[in-house]
Amino acid sequence: MGRVKDKVIVVTGGAMGLGKAAAQRLIEEGARVLITDHNPEAGAATAAELGANAAFLEQDVTDPDGWGTVIAHVEAEYGRLDVLVNNAAVTVFGSIADVSYEDFKRCYTVDVDSIFLGCKTALPLMSKTGGSIINLSSAAAINASADLVAYNSAKAAIPMLTKSIALYCAREKNGVRVNAVLPGTIMTPNVRSVIDGTPNPAETEESFKLAQPVGHMGEPDDIAHLVVYLASNESKFATGAAFAVDGGLSI
Ligand SMILES: NC(=O)c1ccc[n+]([C@@H]2O[C@H](COP(=O)([O-])OP(=O)(O)OC[C@H]3O[C@@H](n4cnc5c(N)ncnc54)[C@H](O)[C@@H]3O)[C@@H](O)[C@H]2O)c1
Repeated sequence: MGRVKDKVIVVTGGAMGLGKAAAQRLIEEGARVLITDHNPEAGAATAAELGANAAFLEQDVTDPDGWGTVIAHVEAEYGRLDVLVNNAAVTVFGSIADVSYEDFKRCYTVDVDSIFLGCKTALPLMSKTGGSIINLSSAAAINASADLVAYNSAKAAIPMLTKSIALYCAREKNGVRVNAVLPGTIMTPNVRSVIDGTPNPAETEESFKLAQPVGHMGEPDDIAHLVVYLASNESKFATGAAFAVDGGLSI
């Protein structure tokens, strides 16, 4: 208990899935967490469920002005920002033949531009105290699939974006560390609905499990525990790194 005591943490896309699990573990370890999401009903319900140290603010992470609003709110409400978890993303399925240019750009805007905007807007405040930025990439940044042309390439941009921002922060000596997290397939509501939307869900679920050399999917807490470590001072020497937690998927 208390590994991130009193830290002020923003988790984007925290209404459900990995963001929600991370917010829950961070709060259990003493943090005050502002969840943001573009789904106001789910976001508010999650904040209410997680208790007094959780709050919710509606945000579309692709909106540059919205980022300004979120960071100004954090400064006014909490006076500081210790940790930013850039978690919100979409998965766009399809091959180079199938995916429209609009969907390709949407994947990049939500998954990559949002991290650029979040880091750019948050850094002036975070630099006052030092802190930790945690960017959710994916094992799909390393393992390609013919039917994930947009998601594979967008997620692959994140570790490099992370390295460049980490080096900038190191050069500035601003005390901000920046790392990327690469989950394997984790059973979240999103993954559940993808499986259920296929013609043979049982077969799809089995193939999702077998994609991991360990033979099963991960649980949201497998990622949440890493987020707690990266948010805490235990990881004070880690920056610019890409942490895979993927049952061996990216080996
Ligand atoms: N679940 C997995 O198997 C898996 C594997 C590898 C990487 N990841 C990554 O982990 C992160 C979380 O994944 P998840 O499975 O929990 O996803 P999810 O789809 O369950 O949750 C994503 C959340 O982001 C929100 N969101 C989407 N677009 C948004 C926008 N424009 N503005 C604000 N909020 C927005 C959604 O409302 C949702 O609450 C993502 O970055 C994802 O790419 C997940």
